[in-house]
Amino acid sequence: ILPKFWQGKRLLVTAGPTYEDIDPVRFIGNKSSGKMGYAIAEVAADAGADVVLISGPVSLKASDKVQTVLVRSAQQMLEAVQQNYADCDVFISAAAVADYRVATPNLQKIKKTDDQDGMTLNLVKNPDIVKWVAEQVTKPYVVGFAAETERLEAYARDKLECKKLDMICANSVGDGKGFEQDDNALLLMTKTQHKNLTNAPKSRLAKSLLAFIAECLVEAKK
Ligand code: C5P
Repeated sequence: ILPKFWQGKRLLVTAGPTYEDIDPVRFIGNKSSGKMGYAIAEVAADAGADVVLISGPVSLKASDKVQTVLVRSAQQMLEAVQQNYADCDVFISAAAVADYRVATPNLQKIKKTDDQDGMTLNLVKNPDIVKWVAEQVTKPYVVGFAAETERLEAYARDKLECKKLDMICANSVGDGKGFEQDDNALLLMTKTQHKNLTNAPKSRLAKSLLAFIAECLVEAKK
């Protein structure tokens, strides 16, 4: 089902963290390595899909089969998604987008002073990229990720509903799981279906995820 379904399909994937600048030398980031999103992009391209990968700062390089757009911040990622989502069949939001950014990044390096023992950063909420795509009238099949340290299934189901996603891929993080690892386990959920993918290399999981998306889309067309 995998190569047959994905042949000629258009897939948009986001991957990696976003970096939100504090000043010219500091930023707020997170531990996402981008491995899951990059694995999805490569497997789909190998199956004949036309893949655009929008990536935050990571140390990975995609193959030439994948069209890659490099971004840094959540706002840049949103703009890149807005430029690329329209003619896509499927959007997979694997990026760990920063929920907040610094309201006004300092133009110069912030200096510490002797009289201040603490400092406060003023943060504002970032746009929710996957939610934005799911709100569009003409939109691709939308797949989100939920990385959680507790109550995995309940939080993931909340996100599936709140963000109006077609599918959510829930994974446990923390305690050496998920982020930065080569292996992962995923719980895939749609409104009506459930699939448990046990611990496996991210490329194997990517294959199973793309096969499950294919199954759901084929089923929906019946
Ligand atoms: O951060 P959160 O747990 O809400 O992320 C769930 C899903 O939403 C992920 O697929 C992530 O890529 C996406 N997301 C997004 N834009 C944000 C925050 C999260 O697209 N600002």
